[in-house]
Amino acid sequence: AWYAVQTVRQLLSQAKQVEGGLQLPQLSIEDAPLFPYRGMHLDVSRHFFNIEFIKKYIDLIALHKMNYFHWHLSDDQGWRIEIKKYPHLVEIGAYREGTVEGHTLNADSSVDNIKHGGYYTQEEIRDVVAYASERHVTVVPEIDVPGHASALIAAYPEFGCGPETKVKRHFGIFKHVLCSSEETFAFLDDIFSEVAELFPGPYIHIGGDEVVKDHWHNCESCQKLMVEQDLHDLEQLQAYFVNRAEKIVNKYNKQIIGWDEILDGDIHPSATIMTWHGMEGGLKAAEKGHNVIMTPAEFVYFDAYQSTSLDEPLAIHGLTRLRDVYGFQPAPSHLSDVARQKILGGQGNLWTEYISTDEAVEYMVLPRMCALAEVLWSEEHNRDFDSFLERLETFTYHLRMLDYVTSDSHYKPELQANLQHDDQFLVAMEVEQGSVYYTLDGSLPNLHSNLYHEPFTLAEECSVRARTWVDSKKKWYGDCRITTRFHKAIGSDITFANPMEVPWNASSGGILFNGNRATDRIFQHHEWAQFWGEKLDAEIKFPRQTIVSSVSIGVMGLHRQLHKPTEIAVYSGEPDKDWVLVGYMNTEDIDKTNNRVKFDFKPTLMDRLRFVAVNDRHYWSPEKEDMVRAIMSFDEIVIH
Ligand code: ACM
Ligand code: ZN
Repeated sequence: AWYAVQTVRQLLSQAKQVEGGLQLPQLSIEDAPLFPYRGMHLDVSRHFFNIEFIKKYIDLIALHKMNYFHWHLSDDQGWRIEIKKYPHLVEIGAYREGTVEGHTLNADSSVDNIKHGGYYTQEEIRDVVAYASERHVTVVPEIDVPGHASALIAAYPEFGCGPETKVKRHFGIFKHVLCSSEETFAFLDDIFSEVAELFPGPYIHIGGDEVVKDHWHNCESCQKLMVEQDLHDLEQLQAYFVNRAEKIVNKYNKQIIGWDEILDGDIHPSATIMTWHGMEGGLKAAEKGHNVIMTPAEFVYFDAYQSTSLDEPLAIHGLTRLRDVYGFQPAPSHLSDVARQKILGGQGNLWTEYISTDEAVEYMVLPRMCALAEVLWSEEHNRDFDSFLERLETFTYHLRMLDYVTSDSHYKPELQANLQHDDQFLVAMEVEQGSVYYTLDGSLPNLHSNLYHEPFTLAEECSVRARTWVDSKKKWYGDCRITTRFHKAIGSDITFANPMEVPWNASSGGILFNGNRATDRIFQHHEWAQFWGEKLDAEIKFPRQTIVSSVSIGVMGLHRQLHKPTEIAVYSGEPDKDWVLVGYMNTEDIDKTNNRVKFDFKPTLMDRLRFVAVNDRHYWSPEKEDMVRAIMSFDEIVIH
């Protein structure tokens, strides 16, 4: 009956306005959900959201006929749930001294020094749980252990096995980990007993993701335990920890959920696995007999970018378009029936490192959550993306009437310029709705610009720029750009002195020679070739002898883990001769350049060219608490 009412609410967004109210056609619907678990997650550790907003989020879950709210209550950047027996958890653990500005992977990132935090009292939590229950939503609390526990360890350092720490101001994966001691398990027992009391649902999520085990390796007590318990490696210690945590949770008549990393050790089949590393782990867990909740990052991580348009707000990484979410299949048909039965459903996850306001949360989940709701409710043969988009129009209007912010990213075009025959680009633009207008001179398109109809070839260098006009709304959407370049490296062969250190997207030329400049799409890592090693040493073989007088390469500094090399050398390979140095730059010169370094030299007949870049740059990593080698990033090697 509850869901029938939600259906009517949804239909009312399509209703006809008549005198005195709204009118729906007479209809009859027979309906039931495809999956029993239809969830949305919210990380309140990286940024704190108040109770009013939590309720507004639960309203959204209910409106989408979803039935689980996964409340990520603890992490390195803040502990958010009052535990009566351990008051320091909120007194110390709920507040950090500041927050990193911009992306945490920027090498020069600064911290704002503005105290951030907050927590929910037990009374507030009871209120939220009751509010959710009235809306047929079950709340799943997550207490993330034994990793992602810096805030806990800041409050009670005796339960960690490394040095003391503060509540983290940066984001990432930190070394602080709970010690596998009896004292820790007694402490967790106290915590879970209070948590179990507050949440009447069947589950407590115990995390288990991204556990850095260095401190376990160096901890006397953990090492002693491994000998006593005959644990052969740190994975087995993790399994031991999780199994102990499970026993505690079971004592309070709850089941555990854990992230898919807990599968690394020998884990009881009674644990429900929440898979986030793609589909594979979840499918394997289902075959092994675990209940599974699918939250694969490529489909339902709503902290990823929604489009490749340059006007998207800063996000963590990745691209998960509305269309991708709609294509999510939580229980693919190739699984055995028995395994399919084990897949309880799916969930959209929202990690809030770069999401600090209520509006930003809504922008990231809407309308991707609408697509997910349909995936989790409707049989696949009843789903149709075009029909969804059509219905989304009026539903979006409804959401905005309810005071939710929704993203328009699905109107923004997608732009590609793929090399063909080494001498032209095939330019394609895709859009879900509306008309794409483009320019070839880098200027902002308007209604007098070119209207895109179908893919076209481009035999010259251009700055292609596109955006979408939706006439019914009289509005423009997006700003997508690609710069195409022709040059002599296109079509050449490339070999590397250290092929093992070459990223997949740069091997055999890849994105280094695709005629597209990555600098137009800064946030997309796959447009950059990232070299982790100390030295890049590449030999480019031209298809025929060629006169070369300049080489330039895209480099990027201080941005999202993209770093400039510290030395670059270019050697000419004249036919039947040894390498001759034709260009060199040291750190100081490289750092003075903008996003490209360029070498000009006297025109030389070459059949090959060698490019060597050295990386001796190190920077302080707040995650590793150590100096780490920077990663060199390159895009197009342009040769003329
Ligand atoms: C996760 O994204 N670390 C579960
Ligand atoms: Zn220890």
